Amino acid sequence: VVADLRERCATPVSLLRDVAVEMADEMRAGLEKEGGSRVKMLLSYVDKLPTGREEGLFYGLDLGGTNFRVLKVQLGGNDQRIANRESRAVAIPPHLMSGSSSELFGFIASELAKFVADENKGNSFSSGKKRELGFTFSFPVRQHSIASGTLVKWTKAFCIEDAVGEDVVVKLQTAMKKQGVDIHVAALINDAVGTLAGARYYDEDVIAGVIFGTGTNAAYVEKANAIPKWEGDLPESGDMVINMEWGNFYSCHLPVTEYDQALDKESLNPGEQIYEKLTSGMYLGEIVRRVLLKLSVQTAIFGEIDHTKLKTHFHLRTPHTSAMHHDETPDLKIVEEKLEETLGISGTSLETRKMVVEIIDIIARRAARLAAAGLAGILKKLGRDGSIDKRRSVLVIDGGLFEHYAKFSKCLETTLSELVGEELSKSVVVKHADEGPGIGAALIAASHSQYRNVEG
Ligand code: BG6
Ligand code: GLC
Repeated sequence: VVADLRERCATPVSLLRDVAVEMADEMRAGLEKEGGSRVKMLLSYVDKLPTGREEGLFYGLDLGGTNFRVLKVQLGGNDQRIANRESRAVAIPPHLMSGSSSELFGFIASELAKFVADENKGNSFSSGKKRELGFTFSFPVRQHSIASGTLVKWTKAFCIEDAVGEDVVVKLQTAMKKQGVDIHVAALINDAVGTLAGARYYDEDVIAGVIFGTGTNAAYVEKANAIPKWEGDLPESGDMVINMEWGNFYSCHLPVTEYDQALDKESLNPGEQIYEKLTSGMYLGEIVRRVLLKLSVQTAIFGEIDHTKLKTHFHLRTPHTSAMHHDETPDLKIVEEKLEETLGISGTSLETRKMVVEIIDIIARRAARLAAAGLAGILKKLGRDGSIDKRRSVLVIDGGLFEHYAKFSKCLETTLSELVGEELSKSVVVKHADEGPGIGAALIAASHSQYRNVEG
């Protein structure tokens, strides 16, 4: 089983180069016309990125990652940058991920209402201006303007039918009204776009914001005249941020195994988000669980065990496999503990535990190497992959997988260097986001504020 898995998950450089070329081709096809590619290349309507001169008090909401966040940020203009910030993270109760949209948006609005009430105790707003908010909504949205857009489909663990095709800002604003929260939604953005914006605030060489977390996605700055499907006037800046939705990328070069096929078939969105299912945090532990189950059933490697837990979908989570992968104790004590704790498997031999780590390594390395190929695809599309290119290209990454899974991020970085070559790897910089996308959303709300040209 393991030798076969290793072979089927192999990602030699030649394969990764093919994936990068196809990613760049799909990007072009998606920009050409609506529906031109599985990679949707959605217009974000963000045509100017933060400059550092943004000022004022803004709220942010951030939905779609492991936690839902509410935040408030005081932007201090040129000198002070972010003068003050407060935030609160809340886990979304799982039943709300598949209930009705009014329940989900009602929950979000009530959390916002509580936050606003707590934060404003003793303060009074005297400026007469309505407060404004940037909404980070980390799902594919076809935008109609900077502050409106309809949900194309749900991804990750969300599945709320009645919201598909609806304007998510209208949903949010309606729920806020019911809660008596009088705040204007000034910007609707994706988390990859927010990551890009938050990073541009500090570094103007940032060309893309990328997420490797529960799901995966990338956003980058495109020349508006390189977007044939763009029908409006060309923005003053000449630029447009594109929300790629690359999680839905597919190529026949992707090393998809029987485990991935079964996972996809039994998922909430069969046939979709294949690249995401190979490379993101929601799925890596689940793929490993499927391999371990087959191994156990076929070879009884864990002895006579009760398979209930091992048969339960998503029972083994990526944080567990990450802990096992990073186990440096000589007798793999952590692997032993995690197997027992999560899957009820005890009494394993050291040899068996080594095999478990090898399986995890195969799945995580495949993910990280394919992730690097995606980044190489963006560089290729932007013509920043030539060895004579001396421009600094900064790729900013956020998300739990990149932040907490060291072997994943390390492998991603070395693979990218391998792909771009030694000379270019000096100017291609991969870094972790300093600011979460919520701050990016607040910054975009500031630059699109209805009061931005008004004194006071
Ligand atoms: C966080 C953001 O930093 O990264 C979220 O605040 C985003 O909005 C997330 O979706 C992605 O990471 P994860 O691991 O929480 O899915
Ligand atoms: C999924 C969503 C996408 C989001 C990504 C990371 O791929 O479709 O919008 O950016 O997850 O959170």
